[in-house]
Amino acid sequence: MAAGCGAVGRVTTGDTSQGKKLFADRCASCHTLADAKAQGTIGPNLDDAFSSDKQQGFSEQTMADVVRGQIAYPEKPMPANLVRGTDADDVALYIAKCAGNPNCGVTAATNAPPPATTTTAGGGGAAAPDGKKIFASAGCAQCHTLKDANATGNVGPNLDQLKPSAGRVAHQVEVGGGAMPAFKGTLSAAEIKAVADYVARVAGK
Ligand code: HEC
Ligand code: HEC
Repeated sequence: MAAGCGAVGRVTTGDTSQGKKLFADRCASCHTLADAKAQGTIGPNLDDAFSSDKQQGFSEQTMADVVRGQIAYPEKPMPANLVRGTDADDVALYIAKCAGNPNCGVTAATNAPPPATTTTAGGGGAAAPDGKKIFASAGCAQCHTLKDANATGNVGPNLDQLKPSAGRVAHQVEVGGGAMPAFKGTLSAAEIKAVADYVARVAGK
């Protein structure tokens, strides 16, 4: 366990409810954490990552400091500084308390409208997958800029500028490449088609 390099201070205070909300917004697309009902698979499962630390008696303080360091100085492909300052402290304390412990009793703060993740966008059609929703939930938005999706990621190319065809998007999503993971195992063929059609339709608009 690296204690982190001195450039970010120790996490002393923070608000775990705020941390839970920020986690849902910024981290859940890539990480699994049962307490936050997060099921992302691009990064490591944080319940698993921290439960052995808990068993070995690491303090919440130590774990919070490790998470804080990872947010500031992540290893690729995790984008740096998804949250900053006290927001980052809140997320770090939340993970230290709740990773591997879905009974930690933290309720997410509700000082902003929750993201509409449970409504089925697309207007009552049958089960056709919604490309815009997949773009958000699969983590594309964390790495790419796409105005229609309110996405401002800059790990990968700006899709508004690239204006790729649906075929080009689908191919990239299937096989990945560069720092981009392949989604063939995590998205179905229909989901890949939906997100590809969506990106090709809205890019540059
Ligand atoms: C775009 C996907 C993505 C997002 C968004 C993301 N992560 Fe990560 N994260 C990763 C990947 C991939 C790794 C593994 C990096 C490596 O190889 O060490 C990782 C590693 C970590 C680790 C280290 C786990 C371990 O086993 O040591 C922590 C802690 C972590 N992330 C916390 C967060 C937090 C907190 C957020 C939100 C502020 C976040 N991540 C957002 C992809 C992401
Ligand atoms: C962890 C960051 C990350 C995630 C998540 C991610 N991408 Fe990428 N993406 C990249 C990077 C980096 C590249 C550039 C790859 C290269 O240079 O070979 C890229 C390239 C692309 C390209 C350009 C391919 C080309 O032909 O030039 C498209 C289109 C694309 N991504 C779409 C998506 C979609 C859709 C998703 C979600 C299903 C997604 N990306 C998720 C990082 C990411």
